[in-house]
Amino acid sequence: MIEVKPGIFWVGAIDWNVRNFHGYLTQRGTTYNSYLILDDLIALVDTVKESFFPEMMRRIEEVIDPGSIDLVVVNHIEPDHAGAIARLRRKIGNAEFIVSERGVEGLKRYHGGDLNLFTIKEKPSVSLGRRSLQFLATPMLHWPDSMITYIQEERLLLSNDAFGQHLATSERFDDEADLSVVMREAAKYYANIVMPYWKVVLRVLESLSNLEIEMIAPSHGVIWRKHPDRIVEAYRRWAEGASEERVVIVYDTMWGSTELIARAIEEGAVSEGVMVQAHRLSMSHYSDVVADILEAKAILVGSPALNATLFPTVAAFLAYLKGLRPRNKFAAAFGSYGWGGGAKKDAEEELRRAGFEVIESDLHFQFKPSTEELSKATAFGVEIARRVKKNSPTKG
Ligand code: FEO
Repeated sequence: MIEVKPGIFWVGAIDWNVRNFHGYLTQRGTTYNSYLILDDLIALVDTVKESFFPEMMRRIEEVIDPGSIDLVVVNHIEPDHAGAIARLRRKIGNAEFIVSERGVEGLKRYHGGDLNLFTIKEKPSVSLGRRSLQFLATPMLHWPDSMITYIQEERLLLSNDAFGQHLATSERFDDEADLSVVMREAAKYYANIVMPYWKVVLRVLESLSNLEIEMIAPSHGVIWRKHPDRIVEAYRRWAEGASEERVVIVYDTMWGSTELIARAIEEGAVSEGVMVQAHRLSMSHYSDVVADILEAKAILVGSPALNATLFPTVAAFLAYLKGLRPRNKFAAAFGSYGWGGGAKKDAEEELRRAGFEVIESDLHFQFKPSTEELSKATAFGVEIARRVKKNSPTKG
């Protein structure tokens, strides 16, 4: 059994095999973290995905009789955390459930309608005996119902999705795991799930600054035991829209022409000493691409024309990007065509709709780009790199 703090146990589950989390590529799997708190009253904070109910119960039973649980805190009703409730409630008699006001309807519809339910308006905090649980609503971090639970006596924040990572590991704490991997997965998680809600993040960070926090235990990935400040500072940086001297080139190619342009732009940017990350969309997953975009200063999108508009992979990527609304970056488009253009113009329109400042380019070449046209692309890469250097590092 894993004791997070004396009398507080991790009773979650490790999902080694999940590779697609509602569209997000989870190459490293994930965990669903559930926490059991023993006091005069016994509380369970968050559960697990329904299929992992037996694993959670086995861990709970190593510590206590599940029938002795008095209280279940539902920080978030999404099924990866609340999915086991319907089965759990059959084992725990008339335990109380605590949820945010915005979570009531969804909790009933997803997980059953006759729970012994209290909202955090009715019970903003609950004394377990030696410790109290305080509930803080964090609507739109990242669902309307989202909330976090704070235990002042332990200086422990049970933060649900916030500060989490999709990372399956037998290591439960940040000081046991490879921190570079943990931070990469935290950044990917932020980019794909939290990024549109940066204003909420800044507000929540402001609220948290009034709390003493020694440990942050999210509901995915490792627990921040040694480096809680590191993830809080990273969230601040990401929410403020900080960026680095880095360019992401994201493109697809039909017969290689758009790829030649991408390579030429890359050569120009690199010659100015700016780091470039390139993704061909038929090879890279969009959730990995946006993780690279998170702290990049510029995004260059390339598409061949297909039926006088965007190549399907590029169109899908731009639709995804628009929903995430990255900020404080500039963008440009390039492309190739055979008989009719359209892709570059459409990419520029989509990038504007996504909120980017779009730098116009004339990188729109028929059939195969000539040597002269590739030189133009290289020169454009130089121009972009110079803009990046002029504008970085920045905070929005
Ligand atoms: Fe991990 Fe929003 O659920």
